[in-house]
Amino acid sequence: MKIDIQRFSDRYLVRRVEKNDLSNVYALCSKNSLYYQYCPPTVTEQSIIDDMNALPPNKSLNDKYYLGYFDSDKLIAVMDFIMAYPDEKTAFIGFFMTDISVQNCGIGTRIIDDLCVYLKTLALSEVRLGWVKGNPQAEHFWHKNQFKETGISCDMENYTVIVAHRVL
Ligand SMILES: CC(C)(COP(=O)(O)OP(=O)(O)OC[C@H]1O[C@@H](n2cnc3c(N)ncnc32)[C@H](O)[C@@H]1OP(=O)(O)O)[C@@H](O)C(=O)NCCC(=O)NCCS
Repeated sequence: MKIDIQRFSDRYLVRRVEKNDLSNVYALCSKNSLYYQYCPPTVTEQSIIDDMNALPPNKSLNDKYYLGYFDSDKLIAVMDFIMAYPDEKTAFIGFFMTDISVQNCGIGTRIIDDLCVYLKTLALSEVRLGWVKGNPQAEHFWHKNQFKETGISCDMENYTVIVAHRVL
């Protein structure tokens, strides 16, 4: 299915992250130390490059969008978005992070709401994602944004991922 990433937000410029954005993505991520306490190891420029190329099983880069949200020139959020995973009617958010300088102002919620509005126009039925069990910031944010636990969890080496979804 063809998607138009410009329509992910009518407030911010949304575009794919490129190599010369790497230092800005790293700066945004590295300040979010709470996230990496729950989801180690901590971020490096190499781990961002690896994430930019990482794919879930049976997906290709055609359905992968590693995106930056920009307010004028300032990078305010990063999202790893996978279209049609784990099934055709579902979109998957692999990673979402806002810059700490703009947190707790409702910007993350607006970005997710705007995305859901757009995905609904594509006749998708849900958005799926995971958070690390016990991360209070992530759990509060996704609950606030109407994501509910699916009952599925995945045990990783150092943490457990709770899988949740929002019906569109
Ligand atoms: C989660 C995140 C994306 C939210 O972005 P944001 O722009 O601050 O989002 P909002 O302002 O819309 O909402 C933030 C909510 O989190 C709450 N919050 C912030 N820090 C918190 C903490 N340590 N514990 C519990 N709740 C917390 C805020 O109080 C607010 O909820 P409220 O409106 O009910 O008071 C941002 O904090 C972030 O990037 N965190 C690090 C990465 C991460 O955890 N991503 C999600 C998992 S993939």
